[in-house]
Amino acid sequence: MSDPDLSFTTEDFLLSEKAVVERFTAAGQGHVFRFLDRLDWKRKNALFLSAKSVDLDLVARLASGKSLAPPAPPPEPLEGPFVHRRQALQDNRVLREQAEAAGLALLRGGKVAILTVAGGQGTRLGFPGPKGCYPVGPGQRTLFDIHAAAVAAASREAGKPVPWILLVSPTTEEATRAYIRRRGLPGVAPAQVRIVCQGVLPALTDEGKLLLEDVDRIATAPDGHGGCLKALRLTGTLAWLVNLGVEELCYFQVDNPLAPPVDPLFLGLHHRAKGQMSSKVFLKSDPAEKVGVVVCRHGKPAVIEYTELPKEQAERKAPGGGLQYWAANMASHVLSMPFAAAVAFRGLPVHRVRKAVPFVDADGNRVVPPEPNAWKHESFVFDAMPLSAGGVVMEVDRSREFAPLKNAAGMDSPETVRLLLQSAGKW
Ligand code: UD1
Repeated sequence: MSDPDLSFTTEDFLLSEKAVVERFTAAGQGHVFRFLDRLDWKRKNALFLSAKSVDLDLVARLASGKSLAPPAPPPEPLEGPFVHRRQALQDNRVLREQAEAAGLALLRGGKVAILTVAGGQGTRLGFPGPKGCYPVGPGQRTLFDIHAAAVAAASREAGKPVPWILLVSPTTEEATRAYIRRRGLPGVAPAQVRIVCQGVLPALTDEGKLLLEDVDRIATAPDGHGGCLKALRLTGTLAWLVNLGVEELCYFQVDNPLAPPVDPLFLGLHHRAKGQMSSKVFLKSDPAEKVGVVVCRHGKPAVIEYTELPKEQAERKAPGGGLQYWAANMASHVLSMPFAAAVAFRGLPVHRVRKAVPFVDADGNRVVPPEPNAWKHESFVFDAMPLSAGGVVMEVDRSREFAPLKNAAGMDSPETVRLLLQSAGKW
């Protein structure tokens, strides 16, 4: 057999670039190449790399609204045999002990892995880096330090290292990797950690056009924490977990230093119910609190974001007093591996969010708009809940498990997190 001809000419490369331009033009997106002639080869390369990462079919579906989350049916109060209220759990010692034993058996049997979503930046905190690197704890301990200690504790309980996946985004990957190389994750063996980078989705104008955020880059943004499952699939991490014998994935957000990475009671309740996806909730403190709420839709649990819950509904009282939509989404879940894999292949609906997206003007100058001017796209992991054939919703004591770090000052700030860590005895 003769050797394949590996001698490429400049023409071959130009041809493929020409084909890319043609594809974009045919899709009505050729404007992204309008500054091509003035770019040097390096920047041209950058633009083509950026263009090749854009899925034009998906862009067309997003622009026409086809891949967007459909309008949700009206919410119903959260009730059903799958809801475990805190008081009822406290009163049922037998159930509690049996579920805890089941959860511990899974952990000790090596059937559990941990997934922390850490793709967000510390922008709202005024911190110039990944949120996980923020030094919130005693002695400058970062969120990553605090979670690492909890993962190390879970590993001691398991009698073996529990696999820990950190989801990062293209905006946080480099800095997170550098941080971990420099500082490590105390108590956690490097071999038990996998850093997985989520994908991006393009920003679009009202007319469904791509934007250039610079003359050599199409504007994109991380695809939301719902992108974690696809990222696990594309990076071979699902296969890694399956080969390790993992059956359950414990999911939580990096911005909650009180979140227990593995909770045997929660895990056990989920497993005994043959759950596909389970969720933790706590009592919402007041109607205006910026948390999603777990409600029922067609009898199944689902999350409504605070931005989508009308004030009247957020304030509505239940017949027995208290809020009708009381169950704040803690964003801690357990997903069974077969379910996580199925969702990773199927995908999740995409939500669009109005944001200020920097763009280049007609002369190629970069403009940072003062007001939202375009749509960014994200999927949310909790949109998998209605797809699941079963699971539990477990109410927890918020003072022991929820200390969200979101803002630089006021609510959910370093100051409130420190107080919550102190009163939970974690300081
Ligand atoms: C989120 C939940 C809300 C819940 C609250 C609890 C959403 C849309 N809403 O609100 O229901 O009650 O937390 O604190 O998530 N992340 C990524 N990649 C991304 C986007 C986010 O890894 O592309 C991570 C962030 O690092 C963060 C977490 O997801 O740890 C939450 O994201 P954020 O946008 O801060 O959600 P919230 O509005 O706080």
